[in-house]
Amino acid sequence: MPDMLVRLYDLPESRVSRLGPDIGIRRALAPERRTVVSWIEERFGAGWAGEAEAAFSSTPTRIHIALFAGRLVGFACHDVTALGFFGPTGVDEAMRGKGIGEALLIESLAAMRAAGYAYAIIGGAGPTQFYARAVGAVEIPGSTPGIYAGMLSPVEPSGT
Ligand SMILES: CC(C)(COP(=O)(O)OP(=O)(O)OC[C@H]1O[C@@H](n2cnc3c(N)ncnc32)[C@H](O)[C@@H]1OP(=O)(O)O)[C@@H](O)C(=O)NCCC(=O)NCCS
Repeated sequence: MPDMLVRLYDLPESRVSRLGPDIGIRRALAPERRTVVSWIEERFGAGWAGEAEAAFSSTPTRIHIALFAGRLVGFACHDVTALGFFGPTGVDEAMRGKGIGEALLIESLAAMRAAGYAYAIIGGAGPTQFYARAVGAVEIPGSTPGIYAGMLSPVEPSGT
């Protein structure tokens, strides 16, 4: 999976107002850390949960969450595995295709722009077409496996 480059000075407008009255996006708060990290681990595994933990280690946090009628339905992290990196991100399977992933992406990238970055990198981009269409991201040649080379696989508990 390649990394992708995004021009933050050419970011689309926020999509949040298109999501409808029951869906909101905001930065997560430190008291939500364990709830959010558990939700991510159940759906997306230990690696992304670890990255989300790291995203909670600053104030403000570096993780945006999407809520539907007060329930957590998606998340997006930035500045976690490397400075200037966006990701990981995920939306609950039942809530995909409603614009939440794109809205989370743009809110998170806008936060990076506000922090002073001119460009962001989508780290290890899976759905490259999604990023290309949503924010004009372009693949970085030679970036697979990039900084993830030799990364440990999550270890299963050995039991007692
Ligand atoms: C990728 C993901 C976050 C997108 O979230 P989503 O809420 O379903 O996306 P949206 O509804 O905002 O989609 C916006 C547009 O992108 C398209 N799109 C969504 N997922 C796509 C994908 N995987 N590949 C290509 N296009 C995609 C949608 O069809 C939509 O197009 P439209 O405007 O023409 O309808 C979600 O599918 C997900 O959680 N996937 C599993 C985790 C993952 O792969 N994360 C990315 C890691 S780098």
